[in-house]
Amino acid sequence: MTPHDYARQHAEEFRAQLLDFLRIPSVSTDEAYKPEVRRAAEWLAAEMQRIGITTELIDMPGRHPLVYGEWMGAGENARTVLIYGHYDVQPAKKADGWDTEPFEPVEKDGFIWARGATDDKGQVYIHVKAVEAVLKAEGTLPVNVKFIIEGEEESGGQHIAAYVPQHVDKLKADVCVVSDGSMSRVEQPVIVNALRGGIGLEITIHGPSADVHSGMYGGTLHNPNQALAEIIAKLHNPDGSVAVPGFYEDVRVLTPQERAEIAAVPWTDDEWRSETGAQIPWGEPDYTLSERVGARPTLEITGMAGGYYERGFKNIVPSKAWAKISCRLVPDQKPHKILHQVVEYIKQITPPTVRLELAYREGGGIEATLINTNNPMMQAAINAYEKGWGGTPVFKREGGGIPIVGAFQNVLGLPVLLMGFGLNTDGLHGPNEHFSIDMFHRGINTIIVFLNEVAQI
Ligand code: BES
Ligand code: MN
Ligand code: MN
Repeated sequence: MTPHDYARQHAEEFRAQLLDFLRIPSVSTDEAYKPEVRRAAEWLAAEMQRIGITTELIDMPGRHPLVYGEWMGAGENARTVLIYGHYDVQPAKKADGWDTEPFEPVEKDGFIWARGATDDKGQVYIHVKAVEAVLKAEGTLPVNVKFIIEGEEESGGQHIAAYVPQHVDKLKADVCVVSDGSMSRVEQPVIVNALRGGIGLEITIHGPSADVHSGMYGGTLHNPNQALAEIIAKLHNPDGSVAVPGFYEDVRVLTPQERAEIAAVPWTDDEWRSETGAQIPWGEPDYTLSERVGARPTLEITGMAGGYYERGFKNIVPSKAWAKISCRLVPDQKPHKILHQVVEYIKQITPPTVRLELAYREGGGIEATLINTNNPMMQAAINAYEKGWGGTPVFKREGGGIPIVGAFQNVLGLPVLLMGFGLNTDGLHGPNEHFSIDMFHRGINTIIVFLNEVAQI
């Protein structure tokens, strides 16, 4: 029996297990879910241990555990693959617009529907099941494998960021593979060659010390909602570019060759429309949609609140208004510098009629990463997609971020392969997140081939 046979024969069982994994609400950003995050780590560790991977939970006070596992039976002279992923998920509740309960996974219409199905539990599980299939079918693996699966990718990742530089020896490998991304069509697999970085901050605008009667005081107070709206309106120029002085200072100018590479993976307005459900694209007019996402920085208002938003009306001038702002950064932009520029600009445009309060993590923020594609391991990834997936991959610059990937490349010095198995339309971070059953099984086949290909390089 080949590993592919084993995976085929156990397909139903593999998916039933994945559904169990998805039932655990490992929401890392919300303290209330801390025990559930741990339960997910323990579940994964037990599953890895069961198939023959030596596994441990690595704790750090106040943080979520890392799941570390290794199978070193291929011997000292064999190659070692470091597999990274995350078992934590974004928050979700049915009221956000889900058709089913986010943590009660269902299989329907060829997809698995649940929070974390594609980001990233389903893709992590592909690696676990590929290793299981090879071990069960052949009693051995062609390479050594190390797993490092974190529980706070969606919420800062402080634990792994501290752990990696201190455990360079333990994490020693020949290549690092990450499956935490997506493609636009199943026939056209994608290897990601750039990730964006980011910063975040929260602003609070204070007006009267408590909500006051809008008849008694309206017209004499600068309403915090209005002041916030005025500030936010000044963060972009009419053409969609960011108005913060100096924001683009360090941004690399795309070469004609880079622009041609980006254009080789087309993304039409129609595709954009059907993926987003929005009306007309917006943003910097001199850049294509793919360039805006892959190679340009952004400033996004990710949340706003203030005043009364329950049923009916309340005649008040509210005391406060809030907004959350996040920037996506591209190579050479320094997170601390951008944070400082944004903060200074917001201070400068805040009118004297209100008080500004800012919250951000000093030293927080993530640099963008350009992936080095010019190494022999990349060929293993390409071959794996061709033989295991059924398509030749193209390179694509991704708009999202995976914070620790930069350290794998720069601190561990490893070639990194961003081999995502999801679809852009999987609804990650939104309601009704789902993962294609077909792509789950193709992913397993691809990783089975990949392990063999690495052994031959
Ligand atoms: N898997 C995503 C990143 C991603 C999204 C890669 C789409 C490829 C395609 C990851 O889990 C994620 O959401 N990252 C965060 C990082 C942030 C919390 C620092 C992001 O991009 O917002
Ligand atoms: Mn992810
Ligand atoms: Mn995510």
